[in-house]
Amino acid sequence: MSGLSWENIESIRGPLATKVELHEEVSSTQERARELARAGAPHGTLVISKVQTGGRGRLGRRWDSPAGGLWMSLVLRPGISTRVAPRMTQTTAVGVAKALRGFGVEARIKWPNDLLVDGRKICGMLAESSVESVPVAAKPVGPGAERPVDFVVLGVGLNANVDPQDLGVPDREVATLRSELGRDVDLLELLESLLSHLDAELGRIENFGAILGEWRALNCTLGERVRVRRLGEVLEGVALDLGPEGELLLKTHDGVIELFEGEIEQLRQARI
Ligand code: BTN
Repeated sequence: MSGLSWENIESIRGPLATKVELHEEVSSTQERARELARAGAPHGTLVISKVQTGGRGRLGRRWDSPAGGLWMSLVLRPGISTRVAPRMTQTTAVGVAKALRGFGVEARIKWPNDLLVDGRKICGMLAESSVESVPVAAKPVGPGAERPVDFVVLGVGLNANVDPQDLGVPDREVATLRSELGRDVDLLELLESLLSHLDAELGRIENFGAILGEWRALNCTLGERVRVRRLGEVLEGVALDLGPEGELLLKTHDGVIELFEGEIEQLRQARI
């Protein structure tokens, strides 16, 4: 692998690389980062592995992680509440999309936070929050009560210097930086750019309206006719817009439905 400089990973510094753990191979950086977070690892602890043998995607899916990809998880202690935590996914998507664009790849965001190039997935993200255990007497009352988030483990799986056919999914469904650019990129440079964009976006998470404005400009879902699978039901409609917390407003025969989660499949072009 030419031009790659993992050897210099110690040179990485910044608020999202306060401690860096680089593995040759690990089951899942997400699990390793969670282990470190539970043991008290500080904000910005970064876990990277050249290969993951048990990489995990959303909904318990497998995430193939051969050598050449950027497989990483961050321990974040962003000082946010459970009300703000769901914003992490779209905020991350905006940061990573900007980093990819800096490398010449026209990545677009599919709701809520997959990154696609011409409809093929190039990057997946996973934000998993852990809520602080509050002393019983101090516990807020009610199921929807806001609580402080102790840490978030933010995983990013970016198909970088790999061939699509090495990713265990049909070629037409995946893209890689190598397949898009026709060359390999320096993973350390990619990582630095990604961390700096992520830090900038996460730093303004309280100003979510601005982030959603950028999300809208970078997305490929709004205006499209889509099928959404969520919690065992299947809905069809037109993706109209986002609500103030990033929820998808889906126009169906029964009216407009707000979706906070779900898997989207794009059907055909729609006019709204
Ligand atoms: C998705 O399903 O789109 C999310 C994929 C997230 C994959 C990354 S790779 C680094 C980190 N470790 C894992 O096991 N998963 C995440």
